[in-house]
Amino acid sequence: MSTIKLAPSILSADFARLGQQVAEAAQAGADRIHVDVMDGHFVPNLSMGPVVVQSLRRVTDLPLEIHLMISDPDLFLDDFVAAGSDSFLVHWEGNDNLHRTVQRIRRLGKRATVAISPATPVAVLEEIVCDLDQVLVMTVNPGFGHQQFIATTLPKIGRARELVEQRQPLCEIEVDGGIDAETAPLVVRAGATVLVAGSAIFGDRDGVTVAMSRLRTAIGNAECEREPAGRPALQRSQLCSSE
Ligand code: DX5
Ligand code: ZN
Repeated sequence: MSTIKLAPSILSADFARLGQQVAEAAQAGADRIHVDVMDGHFVPNLSMGPVVVQSLRRVTDLPLEIHLMISDPDLFLDDFVAAGSDSFLVHWEGNDNLHRTVQRIRRLGKRATVAISPATPVAVLEEIVCDLDQVLVMTVNPGFGHQQFIATTLPKIGRARELVEQRQPLCEIEVDGGIDAETAPLVVRAGATVLVAGSAIFGDRDGVTVAMSRLRTAIGNAECEREPAGRPALQRSQLCSSE
């Protein structure tokens, strides 16, 4: 049984058949649904808002994780919670009040992730990782689906893994961008535990089910080769004073 989670990104889905596509991904073993929110300012693209989450909430029980690529994420947290969101991914970049944003997410009872873009070092997560459920290492520049995986992010995933092992062993390490059957094994070997994939799932001409199974096979092979994490059996409360 794989411990690696798959989070299909609906950015590459057919929006005219969104419910159907998400149901197919769920049936094929998706662990959560990744929703990319863009404001045309933080990233040069527009996508979707709370109404899409509201519709999705009616058709799936899978956790809905909201990747906020917007300039002021705090402004929209309440609306996304009311729509049925389960967790929030907010960027380190451009947020001068990141600790406050993360605390707000936690007070709303939702899971908190901080994302770092390709040019941002893992070190910026040191003082916040204890408050997180997950870190997101972007493996492309945020803003668009179907971009090429940036290989220099691989050692960063390893550094993120070291950081969470030292400070917050319960923290998941998610990767997002350019993940397909070729790159999935690389990120899993580097230490990723949750893989977002958009075009490799919803853009595959063989369909969502075949695409998911291809990814699972690639991940399974890499998992067998991966070194055991050797994570110490410590609870968050033993490591983090803010709890
Ligand atoms: C990019 C988004 C991704 C995107 C990934 O800014 O955050 O979630 O949907 O798409 P693929 O998997 O096609 O690179
Ligand atoms: Zn995303």
